Amino acid sequence: MDKLIVHGGTTLRGAINISGSKNASLPILAASLLTGEDCIIRRVPDVSDTNYMIQILSALGADVERSSGTVRINCAEVMDEAPYELVRRMRASICVMGPLLARKGRCVVSLPGGCVIGDRPVDLHLRGLEALGAKVEFECGNITLTAKNGLRGAEIDLRGTHGPTVLGTDNVMMAATLADGTTIIESAAAEPEVLDLANFLNAMGAKITGAGTRRIVIEGVTSLRGVEHTVIPDRIEAGTFMAAAALAGEGVTLHRVCRDQMKAITAAIEQSGHRVEFNAAGDSCTIHRGENLQGVDLSTAPFPGYPTDMQAQMTALLATTPGISVIKDTIFPQRFMHCAELKRMGADIKVDNGTAIVRGVTRLSAAPVMASDLRASAALVLAALTAKGSTEIARVYHIDRGYEHIDEKLLMLGAAVERVKDR
Ligand code: EPZ
Repeated sequence: MDKLIVHGGTTLRGAINISGSKNASLPILAASLLTGEDCIIRRVPDVSDTNYMIQILSALGADVERSSGTVRINCAEVMDEAPYELVRRMRASICVMGPLLARKGRCVVSLPGGCVIGDRPVDLHLRGLEALGAKVEFECGNITLTAKNGLRGAEIDLRGTHGPTVLGTDNVMMAATLADGTTIIESAAAEPEVLDLANFLNAMGAKITGAGTRRIVIEGVTSLRGVEHTVIPDRIEAGTFMAAAALAGEGVTLHRVCRDQMKAITAAIEQSGHRVEFNAAGDSCTIHRGENLQGVDLSTAPFPGYPTDMQAQMTALLATTPGISVIKDTIFPQRFMHCAELKRMGADIKVDNGTAIVRGVTRLSAAPVMASDLRASAALVLAALTAKGSTEIARVYHIDRGYEHIDEKLLMLGAAVERVKDR
């Protein structure tokens, strides 16, 4: 397993391009199952999560070609049983369920495992697909869904105890595109990645309105066609580099971002005392480190609120921001694995009942730390950028799941980062 070694104290300068969104790419790749025609998807980031999804689609029988960021997929001949071992390794593979069920009238998908950020139930996904007429059975760790007479439109409320479900909304929306009649999804997730999927589906000939709001209406059609699509920018990667620039940068510029998708992230960075300047088009921004910094109170929320996927990175920034900060994660109350590692580096953080109370310290110090999940790993890299000494981050495969060439991008900005093979 590779390690990253980050030598703290260098200043970041210059500009990088943000990659296409991992969390938009995954359901869009799965949506290609809904047609037997070619789909060409551009700006798919080269990360292990998208590689897993491509492996799953290939194992289902899809013909897949990838050249740099462009993926061509043809699902003319696909099976209805997803490979157990592959699916169980990545939670997001659950989003093949909706399209497979709609295309084949049956699907077998392994129950996704939980992960360190919390229990990852799929009850809302199943509530929605059952409402469309699917029969749900569990056996040998698999979920088997069948709809012998096809799917029919329904009114469905997808709200859960922690708010809407992103992939649950995706699954139901994809299945409903080929259902007989009209489906209404109430309490839908409104993330930009859900809207990007809806745009992809509409380009295939689906009839979806309201995506990006809490109420999505899908009028079923009989078939969908192949399409070409470019994935939206990764707002979480952009937010992560925004935090890095606030921590250790001098006028760092990020290209290929989308201002409207990053309002809550930008607001949090500015509230703590830094300045973010977007160009007129809103697709580039420059981050200026502030002089008078202060702690902030943050509570994660479904889009357009502050994203849970940026909680760990902001905690790393606030660990050396003067003052007290309170960070609550209402979506994944257990998503604080990074705090124990940050405390190893000297951070002053108390975690209790889904909330982290951070007292900013002057500077962190390097320590051997361990990545535990995708965003926690990114938080450790951020913390290491200004820490005294060289920080070794083990199990860096977690970072490679969702950040395309993060060490190369940091090196381009002048960070002293090296990737070493673990012996
Ligand atoms: C998506 O996961 C993202 N992943 C996650 O990003 C992100 O953290 C999450 O949405 C929340 O924004 C992808 O898009 C691939 P949810 P998803 O269903 O859809 C509960 C990253 O770092 N819930 O929106 O799986 C659930 O436990 C990843 O890139 C149910 O109770 O998350 C959570 O508390 C991590 N029942 C809340 O809803 C269900 O059936 C939101 O989960 C489904 C979810």
